[in-house]
Amino acid sequence: KTNQQWGGRFSEPTDAFVQRFTASIQFDQRLYRHDIQGSIAHATMLEKAGVLTAEEKDKIINGLNEVQADIEAGKIEWSIPLEDVHMNVESALTDKIGITGKKLHTGRSRNDQVATDIRLWLRDEIDSISNEMTRLQAGLIDLAANEADTIMPGFTHLQTAQPVTFGHHLLAWNEMLERDFGRLQDCRKRLNQSPLGAAALAGTTYPIDRSLTAELLGFDKPTENSLDSVSDRDFAIEFCAFASLLLTHMSRMSEELVLWTSAQFDFIELPDRFCTGSSIMPQKKNPDVPELVRGKTGRVNGHLFSLLTLMKSQPLAYNKDNQEDKEPLFDAVNTVSDCLRAFADMIPAIRSKKASMLEAATRGFSTATDLADYLVRKGIPFRDSHEIVGKSVAYGIEQGKDLSEMSLEELQQFSDTIGADVFDVLTLEGSVAARNHIGGTAPDQVRQAAERARQLVAAR
Ligand code: ARG
Repeated sequence: KTNQQWGGRFSEPTDAFVQRFTASIQFDQRLYRHDIQGSIAHATMLEKAGVLTAEEKDKIINGLNEVQADIEAGKIEWSIPLEDVHMNVESALTDKIGITGKKLHTGRSRNDQVATDIRLWLRDEIDSISNEMTRLQAGLIDLAANEADTIMPGFTHLQTAQPVTFGHHLLAWNEMLERDFGRLQDCRKRLNQSPLGAAALAGTTYPIDRSLTAELLGFDKPTENSLDSVSDRDFAIEFCAFASLLLTHMSRMSEELVLWTSAQFDFIELPDRFCTGSSIMPQKKNPDVPELVRGKTGRVNGHLFSLLTLMKSQPLAYNKDNQEDKEPLFDAVNTVSDCLRAFADMIPAIRSKKASMLEAATRGFSTATDLADYLVRKGIPFRDSHEIVGKSVAYGIEQGKDLSEMSLEELQQFSDTIGADVFDVLTLEGSVAARNHIGGTAPDQVRQAAERARQLVAAR
């Protein structure tokens, strides 16, 4: 097939390599459904505007539906000389219905067409990614509620800091995801305007109704400026920025899962079906899923930078550079969808090893701050109590004893203000229960926070 769509001006056919080099059909065929959806809305509007007769419009719409069925039945052979999905679909339509098919492109350009297609496509993808995020968060929140009483060490600098509950830690993950979800909805809101009618760059002389096509396609309204409509891909960049942050968060979760499943931590067990073995070491069970999610974060960050760099020096309006928006965007969507699916399936199946977590929290003097706070409540200034507890810890290190394992007499060497009631605060249970305010790690607070999180997710 030669490219009849724009061949009129040319005196020789395009070089065969240049055809392949400039074509996008190899990857933009993925947009065919949304391309057809946009064309149906455009044809519907052209009839209302008196540009097409009712008969022509019906012929076009029926033809487009048949083309879609043919594509889905594998009956369309995508053609490189036809360059992209837009011209492939149009040519298939004309093959089917004849000369009327050539009227479809009246009052539009591939420039507004592709800007419309990507927005329609991305909007659908955003909706299914949103659903997958909701599934992940619902599972995470349930797990957190079940683990509201499970004590583990909390860390700063990866050194034992203070005891927390596992449920509290899991709800920290949920907060990251909740913000990511909000960012994704913001992106959807801004992309949901219709560029259709901007035509090549300046608009069109036909009496088109942009509000009608916007409405037919489920957009909130037509875009304001025709030059901007065909030239910016900021919505795709915004999606990739969301994707980068989401995967950054999921990568941090992954890193913790990898640490926690190691023999050195031994905090959790991942089910066998989410792990793989080693071809040489028979004892191995490797946390490949979180490791891969951590690794895939790099490629999504790369896509964000590809798009930012693609955009940064383009003069208005459309430039062919923009054809390069698709592969990074498509891959970012695929990667995010796969990672979310893996996590949504895997997270609810995590089993905590409570005895081992508790053991770890008992080591590392995790209740030292509680002892300092205890002394402050007895009237000692915080800086002095810090010093007293520091000395107690030094003694504990020397003796190989946790603070809660010392006798009252041993503790009183460092301050005679310490009384028998000190052991209420030196236990891990006492320590977490005392942090009893919004955002604190007390089991009751964790249960309430889980309930609030659940309601937010249910209200989506
Ligand atoms: N395949 C092109 C793209 O993805 C469609 C728009 C082409 N327009 C043009 N004037 N060459 O951006």
